[in-house]
Amino acid sequence: MSQLAGKAISYWIASTSHAPNFPSLTNDTLVDVAIVGGGIAGITAGILLKRAGKNVALLEADQIATGVSGHTTAKVTSLHQLVYAQLIKSVGEERARIYANSNQTAIERVAKFVEEEKIDCDFSRTSAYTFAETTETLNDIHSEVEAAVKLGLPASFVTETSLPFAIAGAVKFDNQAQFHARKYLLHLAKLIAGNGSYVFENTRVLNVEEGNPSRVVTATGIVRARDVIIATNAPILDQGLFFAKNYAKRSYIVAARIDRAKAPQGMYIGTSNDYYSIRTTPAPDGGLLLLVGGGGHKVGTVTDTQERYLKLEAYVRSRFGVEEFEYRWSTQDMVSFDQLPYIGKVAPFSNHLYVATGFSLWGMSKGTLAGMLLSDLILGIDNPWLKLYDSTRATPFVTVESLKNNLEVGFHWVGDRLKGLENSSFADVEREEGKLLTINGHKIAAYRDEQGQIHAVSATCTHLGCIVNWNSAEKSWDCPCHGGRFSCDGKVLHGPPVKNLKRYKA
Ligand SMILES: Cc1cc2nc3c(=O)[nH]c(=O)nc-3n(C[C@H](O)[C@H](O)[C@H](O)COP(=O)(O)OP(=O)(O)OC[C@H]3O[C@@H](n4cnc5c(N)ncnc54)[C@H](O)[C@@H]3O)c2cc1C
Ligand code: FES
Repeated sequence: MSQLAGKAISYWIASTSHAPNFPSLTNDTLVDVAIVGGGIAGITAGILLKRAGKNVALLEADQIATGVSGHTTAKVTSLHQLVYAQLIKSVGEERARIYANSNQTAIERVAKFVEEEKIDCDFSRTSAYTFAETTETLNDIHSEVEAAVKLGLPASFVTETSLPFAIAGAVKFDNQAQFHARKYLLHLAKLIAGNGSYVFENTRVLNVEEGNPSRVVTATGIVRARDVIIATNAPILDQGLFFAKNYAKRSYIVAARIDRAKAPQGMYIGTSNDYYSIRTTPAPDGGLLLLVGGGGHKVGTVTDTQERYLKLEAYVRSRFGVEEFEYRWSTQDMVSFDQLPYIGKVAPFSNHLYVATGFSLWGMSKGTLAGMLLSDLILGIDNPWLKLYDSTRATPFVTVESLKNNLEVGFHWVGDRLKGLENSSFADVEREEGKLLTINGHKIAAYRDEQGQIHAVSATCTHLGCIVNWNSAEKSWDCPCHGGRFSCDGKVLHGPPVKNLKRYKA
């Protein structure tokens, strides 16, 4: 097994307090609005609803902002790689303008929270760039600039950047932002708790029963609320079929020290599918960390995920001349097939259950605008963004990409049952290896740790029964169907599943 560089933890989490900040739910509680999920979407909705006078309970399975929002690159921008030229074609100019305005408004919403609440979160204004290294995708860059300018965005075409390598051209958006996402979210979460509102950590929601009021069910108590928001990144409720309207994409980030003189200014992302995402962030000792992300793939489809880190390290070494890496981490987001998030009611017949998902790796702005839109919906305020993001909209099940994805899910459901048939003994599993076994007819996911001890769990995902796949770098069992993830001991790490994998004795 190769030695990966840097500590295996997100810089945002490593540089903030690990002590539990909020209690777990221990008693049944009644509030106006229950919010499931303490990431950027849930916390933004929570603070806005509390400010509007609602009593709120925010329930987080783990700790606040340790999900995707604690592992992001934290660029706050309306430049989403290449999206505007395509959106004008697919939804028309009027709706593309809503996308542009809502994401720009979200940046200003973040900036305003930082200013109003004096949030110490390394917030800074900077430019965002999508760059083409070669002329191959230069036409896409030109089309994006043209579309963005037409929509009133602060866009221009440039050929010079502060990247330490030549590019063919880039879209540049002025006056965008970057921040320390976890510092920002922890501060807002603290403002939610108190005066009849609550934040509960280490409280996994197992089910939500819609009613009057609705019941949010956990192992340690029930929260009753008139309105409930599901902001769990991948929705934990299957109504609305969001698991089939999105797919989960996992991506990798490394952080290395860089001299200020050599550091790029601004935030960058490449074109092509094999893109890299680049920014810097201030380190606590006054130095600078370079963050570079890339290597994305559909969750559960790559076992040798270490190779993704190694490729990323090699890219950073060759392009930026850095040697030492301090941190590495990975995370995933729900990607929607029509590029638009789903924000609104869980299902057309549902009156008080709301959802936000499908941020497609741009949830710092889209999670913020989701919180704004959901808060308006609950407060009965008309919001013009709803017609674009409405979660109950007719969805493109017939796009080639979504058909392919859902067919692949079907193949996994059937075909993956044959995986591991040839291995029938724990002796087949090497040290630091994860393997699927069939023992007495049971599909078992077994991992042998460094000390030689076997960790054995059911290989059948507790969401809809697909067979999980080993992820070597994160030592987790990842589901190729809808992106659910479990630790090597079967604990849920990422939804949609809410139940752990059954454990077996080795
Ligand atoms: C590698 C990578 C880099 C990215 N970089 C950027 C970027 O630079 N800019 C940008 O705009 N976006 C970026 N994104 C996307 C952005 O980070 C996400 O869209 C956003 O953080 C998602 O926020 P969320 O609130 O939906 O999810 P989360 O932050 O994951 O919050 C959901 C929370 O729900 C909790 N939860 C789950 N199930 C339950 C349950 N049953 N009960 C209670 N709680 C539960 C989870 O523990 C989690 O804390 C990136 C994404 C990736 C993958
Ligand atoms: S996440 Fe849906 S079956 Fe595993």
